[in-house]
Amino acid sequence: MKRNSLSSFSVSLCLLFTAVMLQVVESAKGKYAHMLFNELFEDYSNALRPVEDTDKVLNVTLQITLSQIKDMDERNQILSAYLWIRQSWYDAYLKWDKDKYDGLDSIRIPSDLVWRPDIVLYNKADDDFSEPVNTNVVLRYDGKITWDAPAITKSSCVVDVSYFPFDSQQCNLTFGSWTYNGNQVDIINSLDSGDLSDFVEDVEWEIHGMPAVKNVITYGCCSEPYPDVTFTLILKRKSSFYIFNLLLPCILISFLAPLGFYLPADSGEKVSLGVTVLLALTVFQLMVAEIMPPSENVPLIGKYYIATMTMITASTALTIIIMNLHHCGSEAKPVPQWARVVILDYMSKIFFVYDVGENCTSPKREKEEERKLEGDDGYQRRPKEVRSHLSNRNVDYDLKETLNGNLNKNYAVHGEDVRETVNCCSCYKMLIKNIEYIANCIRDHKANRAKGIEWKKVAKVMDRFFMWIFFIMVFFMSVLIIGKAA
Ligand SMILES: *[C@@H]1O[C@H](CO)[C@@H](O)[C@H](O)[C@H]1NC(C)=O
Ligand SMILES: *[C@@H]1O[C@H](CO)[C@@H](O)[C@H](O)[C@H]1NC(C)=O
Repeated sequence: MKRNSLSSFSVSLCLLFTAVMLQVVESAKGKYAHMLFNELFEDYSNALRPVEDTDKVLNVTLQITLSQIKDMDERNQILSAYLWIRQSWYDAYLKWDKDKYDGLDSIRIPSDLVWRPDIVLYNKADDDFSEPVNTNVVLRYDGKITWDAPAITKSSCVVDVSYFPFDSQQCNLTFGSWTYNGNQVDIINSLDSGDLSDFVEDVEWEIHGMPAVKNVITYGCCSEPYPDVTFTLILKRKSSFYIFNLLLPCILISFLAPLGFYLPADSGEKVSLGVTVLLALTVFQLMVAEIMPPSENVPLIGKYYIATMTMITASTALTIIIMNLHHCGSEAKPVPQWARVVILDYMSKIFFVYDVGENCTSPKREKEEERKLEGDDGYQRRPKEVRSHLSNRNVDYDLKETLNGNLNKNYAVHGEDVRETVNCCSCYKMLIKNIEYIANCIRDHKANRAKGIEWKKVAKVMDRFFMWIFFIMVFFMSVLIIGKAA
């Protein structure tokens, strides 16, 4: 029992000793860091370029990591991006012998204590010139300073929307020293491209690389060089959003437009369909115009809209002209011979137009009805007896003879006075004349009606012709724009 308690006592004593020793080491490190800091910054100025020989150049290595694309404003030509900017350089006055400071090889201190290169984004498009973020820098014993700073940059970017929504863009991010020339501060890109390993996938843009190029610009003949590093962000737009929201509805609507020619002329909706489609397209065009910069380059989709709208305007105008033909009616001139040959003979066969009103009834039944009509000769409203005698006969000359014979027969049967019959004969002649007149009228009326029907048929053939023409045009335009996407 006693020996047991003794051993436990010795163990706890041992632990205590170890703890005290550790404490000493820890405090020694902290003390050294403190000492180091005080010694380093005793007579250090962060205002001056930290080189021993002022003729010597100070190399600043720059590395950009693209974290996220915040926004691409096509209208104002501004790219907002979230970047991490890593700069490193050697400070000639911030070196120490790490053995003298108990192996302390690096310290982290606020960046505003040390000299920092004034590297800025040249093509910045921000309203406020905000100061760089005051993050810490890592200071290594050999004087190497590494400064990581996050930044939200707004850079100007020339946006070419000619191929919207199938466009790709190139945005330059040019970094350079604002005041130092190339003989004082030289800027070097650490990699030959921006770092994209931490990129957060963007919904609208695909990144196709971010190559970096160093440019040295010399203004005038003999002055100092001004180096800069330009990162070119290559972006490709993901177009499915625009295809579904701007392109497909327009294609569908434009396929509706040629059907306006198929609408029956009497429905009175032919023109309003065209105008409605035109208005719908205008709405889409306004939507596109709102997001596009007002530049010379009309985007592809805008061209498509304009082409479609022109086509629909033309189709509506043609519809109006064809409506006029349709309503030519009986008072019009007859269909000219060439039109009769070209339109009624050939084109009607090509476009399968048989007769007016064939939409709902089959052509065969229509034909039968016509034959019946011809048999009746159009005299449906004649008295029954006359019709029975005249049926299936030529109206022209037989009429008089038949009537005469009939009348004589009738009177003979009734046994009336012959003189009265002769007297009455002149009165019947009068009647025959009238009937002849009525027959002529009806014949004229029928001819006129045929003329009207002919015009209607001309209108219908033209309608079909243009329907197919416009269908083909819409189809080719859609294929063309979809082809651009591929
Ligand atoms: C800076 O970099 C250049 C090469 O780009 C090199 O020749 C020069 O020695 C470097 N200067 C310093 C001080 O490291
Ligand atoms: C972007 O930078 C590259 C490389 O410096 C240059 O060739 C290109 O012309 C620049 N583009 C624009 C739009 O300034």
